[in-house]
Amino acid sequence: MYEDTFTFYGAARAEADIGSPKLQEILQSSIKCNSCDDLKAEFIFHTTYHQLKIEEHYKTLCENMNSKHAQAGTTNDSTEDETVEFGRLFYLSIPPSAYSKTAELIDKYCRPQAPTWFRIIIEKPFGHDKKSSVELAEQLVKYFKDEEMFRIDHYLGKSIAKQILPFRFHNTKNYDHIWNRDHIEKIEIMMKEEVDVKGRVNFYDECGVIRDVMQNHLTELLVLVTMELPKNINNITEIQQRKLQLLQQVSPVKPKQVLLGQYASYQSELIASAASEHVASKTPTFAASLVNIDNARWKGVPILLVAGKKLHERASYIKITFKRQIVCFEDGDSWDNTKCSPYQQMLFNIGGGSIGIPAIVISQSLPYPTAVAEWTNSQQVDYFKQPGNSFNAFTAKTDIDAYSSLISEVYKNNKQYFVGTDQLLASWDIWTPLLNDLHNIPLQEYSGWDEDTDILKFQHAKNQLKFFTEKHKRFEATEIPSSN
Ligand code: BG6
Repeated sequence: MYEDTFTFYGAARAEADIGSPKLQEILQSSIKCNSCDDLKAEFIFHTTYHQLKIEEHYKTLCENMNSKHAQAGTTNDSTEDETVEFGRLFYLSIPPSAYSKTAELIDKYCRPQAPTWFRIIIEKPFGHDKKSSVELAEQLVKYFKDEEMFRIDHYLGKSIAKQILPFRFHNTKNYDHIWNRDHIEKIEIMMKEEVDVKGRVNFYDECGVIRDVMQNHLTELLVLVTMELPKNINNITEIQQRKLQLLQQVSPVKPKQVLLGQYASYQSELIASAASEHVASKTPTFAASLVNIDNARWKGVPILLVAGKKLHERASYIKITFKRQIVCFEDGDSWDNTKCSPYQQMLFNIGGGSIGIPAIVISQSLPYPTAVAEWTNSQQVDYFKQPGNSFNAFTAKTDIDAYSSLISEVYKNNKQYFVGTDQLLASWDIWTPLLNDLHNIPLQEYSGWDEDTDILKFQHAKNQLKFFTEKHKRFEATEIPSSN
């Protein structure tokens, strides 16, 4: 299939031979696809490995690419109409400290001649606060044009995350008039993980949960559910502008809006991995944070972002809880509250949790005929409602993994699912003041999550917090008892 049109260059600092059994084993086991042995074998055949440590290595690698490119150009026997559009895509998964030099050398040796396209994918972390993020952006822009850079946040490639905007857009008639502070009681954005930080404890200890997932994954999800809809769902520039506009309306998070935790065995994992003498770490592995959006649509709506490691389940979702009075609207504007159950919810299940599959779920008593028709027209989702199910759900027709999905968007030069520089800096504006103050926030030790009460179990019984109770719709920092 690839013939001479595709070559994959793996590169790292270590010296290694692509033919070595170890590398072959890594390739065999890490490339996963169903019933595609031939394709996999062909991919591996077109894969080479290169050591990239000193300038000379970049020069040699890129000369190799250039000659391969030239060869492919001369042997390309496709007709004019089917001409293969050659391009060069770099995927940088490197520490922030290595970005500047790597970018310089790629620009110096590896930039192809036009009309061949040239694109760079960059992995997080994109800095560790606003200042470092600005510095990183300034370094990169010396070597790459903005349109050449694709900052990847894999949550934007998850099948349901990709469908949030189309879902809202195609169902404007059903939802837009209730998508606001008058009708929405609260929004919860969760990213619970069962895993701990073993294997990456040193990296994790430097960043903690807010930098690791809140500033990026959870903030991106927040934007998708709360941003103003574009007039045209295919206008990527307009979508990016709307995202930025929303981010600029989120108030910087204050310490009193946040609860921080660290799982009980974190310190011992750190000690086990650290070569030097251990100093007690204050890195949070759990955070619950109340976020305010200061605009007419959302002002005053409690929006809770929660993320943590070593919890009882793997679950990422956005849950929208509607206020009582809006639950029935099948007869146009005439609401019949007697027919309705309280607290209607809509769930964007990104993955895991009790629903398991990625899906958009609305509770049983809400009829959405238009939603079904318009949604399925998009050909991207299936609708299912089986007798006995307590919910209606939309699932993605094909659930390809987030990275594959995003990399294919890079091939299409589609910037919609990537983080623009302005958006990145606006997101750091929300979180940087809090990060600067983190050491002043009490850190609670926790041992798990109580499924019955939806309470994070802190080490001492008195240090328990129920996020939302009937009485306290808001998450109050004053409810957090100190651990002393
Ligand atoms: C990464 C974080 O970005 O996302 C990890 O660095 C986290 O700490 C991971 O575990 C979660 O991704 P997913 O796709 O498993 O939800």
